[in-house]
Amino acid sequence: MDSLRGGQDVLAASQAAETEPEAKARKPRRRKTAKRARSAPLKSAGSTIRKPASAKAMAEDFVARGKARDLTIGILGLGYVGLPLAEAFLASGFRVLGFDVDETKVNKIRKGRTYIEHIPNARIAAMMKTGRLEVTTDPKRLSAADALLMCVPTPLNIHREPDISYVEQTTKVIAEHLRPGQLVVLESTTYPGTSDEVVKSILETTGLTAGRDFAIAYSPEREDPGNINFSTSSIPKVVGANSKPELDMATVVYAAITQVVPVPNMKTAEAVKLTENIFRLVNIALVNELKVVFQGMDIDVWEVINAAKTKPFGYMAFYPGPGLGGHCIPIDPFYLTWKARAHGEATRFIELAGDVVTRMPNYVIETLALALSSRSKKAVAGSKILVSGLAYKKNVDDMRESPSLHLIEMLRDRGAKVDFHDPHIPVVPVTRDHPEFSGMKSVKLSPKKIASYDCVLISTDHDAVDYAELVRNAKVVVDTRNATANLPKALLKKVVKA
Ligand SMILES: NC(=O)c1ccc[n+]([C@@H]2O[C@H](COP(=O)([O-])OP(=O)(O)OC[C@H]3O[C@@H](n4cnc5c(N)ncnc54)[C@H](O)[C@@H]3O)[C@@H](O)[C@H]2O)c1
Repeated sequence: MDSLRGGQDVLAASQAAETEPEAKARKPRRRKTAKRARSAPLKSAGSTIRKPASAKAMAEDFVARGKARDLTIGILGLGYVGLPLAEAFLASGFRVLGFDVDETKVNKIRKGRTYIEHIPNARIAAMMKTGRLEVTTDPKRLSAADALLMCVPTPLNIHREPDISYVEQTTKVIAEHLRPGQLVVLESTTYPGTSDEVVKSILETTGLTAGRDFAIAYSPEREDPGNINFSTSSIPKVVGANSKPELDMATVVYAAITQVVPVPNMKTAEAVKLTENIFRLVNIALVNELKVVFQGMDIDVWEVINAAKTKPFGYMAFYPGPGLGGHCIPIDPFYLTWKARAHGEATRFIELAGDVVTRMPNYVIETLALALSSRSKKAVAGSKILVSGLAYKKNVDDMRESPSLHLIEMLRDRGAKVDFHDPHIPVVPVTRDHPEFSGMKSVKLSPKKIASYDCVLISTDHDAVDYAELVRNAKVVVDTRNATANLPKALLKKVVKA
């Protein structure tokens, strides 16, 4: 489906040639292209085919079209970040060109079907129904877009160093189709300097100059999947660019969907995102450390936090858990650690926080082993254990870097037989860290089934699980999330917090 037909052809006709004779030689082809573009169902307004007269002129044209919603917003990477972003731009009236290398996702969107649990089919179908969404795996279509927003993965490699290969690859594809007047924005979380040193460098190999012929900006994603209190349009967006015209261009795009928070340049915006996630990591580590300390004093850390958070200032609640999970907190802070090393600086807080939370799964397993032996006179080896909750956090189907996987691995290594239950993950997909678990199925819970386990380990606290039923039928429950907090006292006798 090429509903945004036009921009690509206009560009193809225009690419390098800016000399008078060449322009004349191309004249007939251009007329033909223009006619074709007019007859297309939706044509891209992205028709800047020459280098702009100046950066100011480029920005003025772009901003005027942005205000009129006459831009095509290209989104590269239609995952947890890119898909809701596409939805927000459609809602604000823009045309959207979604690009992904994963054909399965593109085909699902075309059929109005979802692949992310908290974005139901109806929302995808509604996006398609606007008639302003084109999704494709064809990189040639990228020239039809006026803005190109990259929402691709930025994981760590096996040495726990930044893996920016997805950003590099995507930028190279953009470079192959880059045309004057386009805006390129990286949204993926990354270390300060990526937009300048990687994205800009690759794009300028085209002979076009950033800030003059085309624009670059960085705008970190703050999406929090599954959080019903916030959506793309209610979370302010930090935008950094190295010049005013580039900032103006990025601002007109994002201001259409939410409040924009401008910062002086791209590396500042990159640092903002890392600061947010490092703040979370350090505080999560701190509260996990307090959990262990208070446990030794027979003080429930959850009671402490719930009381402490009544202070109206100077305190922000963070909660302990079985370890770090998700695609952000276990990863992003170490992007800064890596970059800081290149500047001869150490990131001791980050390393320490990483150390503390990395030990949490061990603490959970030790607590579970103790509970089994003291309450059931059993060892972990040979026991049947049910892990409740596989996703890395509450009420989502995302299990990237989930500590539950690590816990299952540790229990199996100690000789336990482990099953899991997760209403959001019926079957374990292939994961980077634990491909050996792929295909494992969530067990169906019944009183008899629950009673067949020696211990239930609550690793993630989904609302869809009936914890009263779980505890009532279980022999012993180890709760890492305080999911059992509101159960009757009689049931709590079976629960050990970890
Ligand atoms: N998921 C979140 O809640 C969240 C929040 C804030 C920031 N982020 C950051 O946003 C970025 C994207 O995260 P995500 O969760 O959406 O990842 P994701 O894995 O859900 O989606 C990434 C998408 O990019 C596609 N892709 C990979 N290579 C590509 C390429 N060369 N060209 C086009 N598409 C390509 C993948 O097929 C996938 O659909 C990461 O840097 C992440 O750290 C994510």
